[in-house]
Amino acid sequence: MINFKSIKSICCIGAGYVGGPTMAVIADKCPNIIVHVVDINQERIDSWNNLDLSKLPVFEPGLADVISRVRNKNLFFSTKVAEFISKSELVFISVNTPTKKYGIGAGKASDISSLEECTRQVAKNASGHTIVVEKSTIPVKTAAAVKAILETSQNDNDLNKTFSVLSNPEFLAEGTAIKDLENPDRILIGGDDDDAINLLKDIYLNWVDKNKIITTNLWSSELSKLASNAFLAQRISSINSFSALCEETGANIDELKRAVGSDKRIGEYFLNAGPGFGGSCFQKDILNLTYLSEHFGLPEVAEYWEQVININNWQQYRIYKTVLNKLFGTLSNKKISIFGFAFKADTNDTRESPAIKICKYLLDESASIVIHDPRVNESNIDIDLNEYIKLKYSKWEVSSDYELAAKDSDGIIILTEWDIYKKIDWFKIEGLMRKPAWVFDTRKIIDPYVIKQTSLNFWQIGYGIN
Ligand code: UDX
Ligand code: ADP
Repeated sequence: MINFKSIKSICCIGAGYVGGPTMAVIADKCPNIIVHVVDINQERIDSWNNLDLSKLPVFEPGLADVISRVRNKNLFFSTKVAEFISKSELVFISVNTPTKKYGIGAGKASDISSLEECTRQVAKNASGHTIVVEKSTIPVKTAAAVKAILETSQNDNDLNKTFSVLSNPEFLAEGTAIKDLENPDRILIGGDDDDAINLLKDIYLNWVDKNKIITTNLWSSELSKLASNAFLAQRISSINSFSALCEETGANIDELKRAVGSDKRIGEYFLNAGPGFGGSCFQKDILNLTYLSEHFGLPEVAEYWEQVININNWQQYRIYKTVLNKLFGTLSNKKISIFGFAFKADTNDTRESPAIKICKYLLDESASIVIHDPRVNESNIDIDLNEYIKLKYSKWEVSSDYELAAKDSDGIIILTEWDIYKKIDWFKIEGLMRKPAWVFDTRKIIDPYVIKQTSLNFWQIGYGIN
């Protein structure tokens, strides 16, 4: 039974891209609540506690300012998972749920082993009544498993140990996390315990308008997160499929986007053609959705959503093939410069980045590649391209200076829409490259008029003039 009128202490398990920024904003907006973010990864916690705010483990515009306001006031980072579960009235579970790599559902289903592990920790260490909130994206019906695990501990010695389980998916996008958290389109809370729902709602009411808070049953909330990501990813695959058609027909993807997006029923957002979606959510969630659909005997639904991923993979393959064709069908003894390795601008995250697949295609083709990214650590790229280190005919390296990366290069591929690439002096770059040289703009950030004044050959996604 809930015997408190408001939440005074929160514990968030998982100090990642979601847990860290989300708890920072909650602490900032709710000075009366103590927030402990706990994680089993000591190195990550140390980075969150680093006095040098440029060393936080997550790069997000505005995050360092929020952290500097609240850290060690009402926001704390530690590895004391058990201790802060027991001291909190509300526990967010915000751990990673990657695609399963083994057993039934491998390559599709979400691996919820970390979530289960955390739930067991909560079951063991909670005291009194605890509201357990799923923040991680999870398969529908996960709350049933969470409840089942928690219920086993209700018979423990501590007779007061009781739980409510809520689903409260996070909709922030990386790169705009702080803006999204401070001014969300909506907050979704799913559950069957009205008192618990209201207590969580009260937290958000500190800064979010009540009309933006949607309450549903548990399963609608869990499924809505998957559905939202599926709809967004579907728009990207839709526009990318048209980018290929534009290139063939002489149409222009920006003109098409404007014409289509100005229909209010369709809307202008998420219609930027590019190298395909990356990030930790879209692919994982759609794979999960197809797995669930098959599991529930709905293969037609699974097949429908699978096509969104197929187009995404094809877009990356198509870009690689275009580069190969323009460079006379061979990349051996050629240097290719990769501008941008993060899956989108304003993040240091490379999970499922289109750059990974495209670099691997190029390396398989014996190219030498030099990668520049203003935020991604070399150690991350090392992990992402690891199996390619020892290939006989190809190699890759990282450069901290994009002009050096462009030196003697046969082709530059822009893969992330970082602002610095929008300001490149192409006349200078022209002098650095080996001729005939190509620039491939997969993000449509270069003004074709400017680059066409140089001797550089130019290809841009979705332009029939290519
Ligand atoms: C996404 C959802 O937007 C967010 O609501 C959810 O909580 C997590 O997943 P995220 O992956 O962080 O967020 O970033 P998002 O801005 O959605 O971009 C995802 C990928 O799609 C990026 O690779 C981006 O470059 C690409 N994209 C996005 C496009 O190619 N075109 C677009 O128009 C928009
Ligand atoms: P997301 O993008 O969903 O935030 P991340 O991988 O960035 O995912 O972060 C998830 C965090 O959860 C990681 O820092 C990881 O160490 C942490 N984590 C995973 N399992 C546990 C666990 N059992 N207890 C505490 N923290 C965990």
